[in-house]
Amino acid sequence: MRKIKIENPKASLYPVPTTLISCTYNNQENIITVSWTGIMCSNPPIIYVAIRPERYSYSLILNSKRICINIPSIYTLNEVDFCGNTTGKFVNKELSCRFNMISLMDDYPKAIELCKHHLLCDVFQIIELGSHTAFLAEVKHEFIDEDCFIGDHQFMYDKIQPIAYCRKEYYCLSKKIGIYGKQKTIYKDKSVLK
Ligand SMILES: Cc1cc2nc3c(=O)[nH]c(=O)nc-3n(C[C@H](O)[C@H](O)[C@H](O)COP(=O)(O)O)c2cc1C
Repeated sequence: MRKIKIENPKASLYPVPTTLISCTYNNQENIITVSWTGIMCSNPPIIYVAIRPERYSYSLILNSKRICINIPSIYTLNEVDFCGNTTGKFVNKELSCRFNMISLMDDYPKAIELCKHHLLCDVFQIIELGSHTAFLAEVKHEFIDEDCFIGDHQFMYDKIQPIAYCRKEYYCLSKKIGIYGKQKTIYKDKSVLK
């Protein structure tokens, strides 16, 4: 197949997660949809979230240095899209979405009860990159609904039903196709060994 060279290359990695990040500062609470987020390190557990400075949430996170990452399910897609297209500068998104906000740990932003998985994080480094600023954050506390938890960090994704995001389109993860380290060996002879 011929490979087409794309002009103006973009950061086209997909799918990426879809998260609802709750943040609070000075009695102002907000929720922002974020997909430019990912794992940076397992131990210590570090993630990044990349947020444009013009977002209302930006200054809340910049000042509080704490976030709660909520993992929404496919059944919360309308709310996800709403929180990603409406600014908390003018609208109370918690009330609009009728989210019940619960406190999981003192001094952290409240979590969205409807979401099944939550990461409470401390921001320790901020990198201005251009359109987005990356907040590097350590996961300090993790909560998951008990019906989604098997144990030893194994989760039932068919219950969590996370939303995958691929450049303006939402997808569900409909089918498990394999297990890490358990797939069939693909080489048959010793000629490939170094
Ligand atoms: C699926 C989705 C993913 C998004 N990901 C990001 C992101 O990673 N970073 C960002 O700055 N904005 C992102 N946005 C846009 C913000 O969520 C949107 O501008 C929102 O209205 C900002 O809210 P705020 O002004 O209340 O902070 C995303 C929107 C959607 C719908």
